[in-house]
Amino acid sequence: MPHAIDTLIATLESAATAEPDFYGAAFSRYFELCPDSRELMQHTDELMRGRMMEQVVSLLMDADAGSLEVYFKFEVGNHEAYGAQPHMYAHLFQACEDVTRECCALPWGSEEDVAWAKQRRVLLELIGRYSSVAD
Ligand code: HEM
Repeated sequence: MPHAIDTLIATLESAATAEPDFYGAAFSRYFELCPDSRELMQHTDELMRGRMMEQVVSLLMDADAGSLEVYFKFEVGNHEAYGAQPHMYAHLFQACEDVTRECCALPWGSEEDVAWAKQRRVLLELIGRYSSVAD
C-alpha cells in the first residue's frame, strides 16, 4: 500500500491537470463553505490568493509538515493579525479536498479519504497549537 502522503499527492496532481484553474476553483469552494473568510479576503487580488494557495498546496503535500513548528508559529501569528480564526483553516483544507475529489481522474475510495484526513489532522493540530484565538 502506498504511503498516505503519496496517495494525497497523486490526487492533487491529477486534479490540477484536469482543472487548470485549480486555485480559482479551490477559492470558490472555500468562500462557499466559509463566508467569514470571503469577507476577510475581500481586499485580496488573484496574485495574492495564488501565492497563498501555492503555500497551502505545498503544505498539503509535505510529508514532514508536522515538523514545521517555526513556520506555523510565524504564519498563524501573522494570520491572527489579519483576523484568521481556526475554523477558517479547517474550511480551507476542506475546500482543497472537495475540489480535488471533484476534479481528480483517479478512483476515490477510503484510502484517499484517510490520506486527506491524516494530513488535515497534522496541519490543524499545529495551527491549533499556535492559535491564541478561540473559535
Ligand atoms: C495554512 C494555511 C495558510 C497559508 C499557508 C497561508 C499563506 C498566506 C500567504 C503566503 C499570504 C501572503 C500572500 C502574499 O502577499 O504574498 C497570505 C495572505 C493572506 N491570508 Fe493566508 N494562508 C493560510 C490560511 C489563511 C486563512 C485560513 C485565512 C482566513 C481567511 C487567510 C487569510 C489571508 C489574508 C486576509 C491574507 C492577506 C493579508 C494582507 O492583506 O496582506 N489565510 N496567506
